[in-house]
Amino acid sequence: MVNHIIATHVPPIIEARGVRKTYDIGSLPVEVLKGADLTVQSGEWVAVLGSSGSGKSTLMHLMGGLDRPDDNGGEIRFDDRPISVTHGKRLDSYRNRDIGFVFQFYHLLQELNVFENAMLPGMVGNWMTGHGSARAVARESARRLLDSFGLSHRLAHKPSQLSGGERQRVAIARALVNSPRVLLADEPTGNLDTSTGAGILDLLAERHAAGLTVIMVTHDAEVAARADRIVKLVNGRVTDQALTW
Ligand SMILES: Nc1ncnc2c1ncn2[C@@H]1O[C@H](COP(=O)(O)OP(=O)(O)O)[C@@H](O)[C@H]1O
Ligand SMILES: [Mg+2]
Repeated sequence: MVNHIIATHVPPIIEARGVRKTYDIGSLPVEVLKGADLTVQSGEWVAVLGSSGSGKSTLMHLMGGLDRPDDNGGEIRFDDRPISVTHGKRLDSYRNRDIGFVFQFYHLLQELNVFENAMLPGMVGNWMTGHGSARAVARESARRLLDSFGLSHRLAHKPSQLSGGERQRVAIARALVNSPRVLLADEPTGNLDTSTGAGILDLLAERHAAGLTVIMVTHDAEVAARADRIVKLVNGRVTDQALTW
């Protein structure tokens, strides 16, 4: 009870506040997000459920600092501060260290092997901070993650030599290598068959049980059901109301 009272006063770890995003398709502006609000507390696993084209990837890219809201189109906050005012190195650092990002189509670098792919954000982070010894930490972190994901026999293989499920495990290892506080997953099972996808969700559940905050977007209600909380993205806004599709 005491914990509950304290928890209600803790600011969210990540928050989208009134986020608007318009794309200019030809000469026609299309407002995809029309004031989307999403508040996530540390340790939560939230699923954002929305149909294809509803703006799920757009919302994730904005929350991950990979793209920006419209001018005067709300803000993304991390740890009670807007990420949009932190340009340059600090935004790089947000993308590299505070959050991890997992894509539907893995986005692994084909020229690099499994170990190098997983280690990459660790190397980038250390160029920025200049701590050479931290590279050893990144190597160790990648090795430990890949081992726990059952990939230790695959370290020298290229992504093209792996199954879809294995590729996504590598991508998740890469996303977690710098020990981010939040994992953003954009349809992490969208390219996988049901049982392989279930394995990926089990892996997310394990990390979540260990304290990781997870935000996952999906069009699949069964996938969303694995989360603690489901919200819906409809007509450019996030709602937790039960809706008929
Ligand atoms: N870079 C872009 N330029 C123009 N239109 C885009 C761009 N990205 C997404 N869109 C459009 O925005 C809408 C939402 O896309 P998206 O966020 O990818 O939805 P979802 O991930 O839910 O399928 C779609 O109509 C899509 O065509
Ligand atoms: Mg998408």
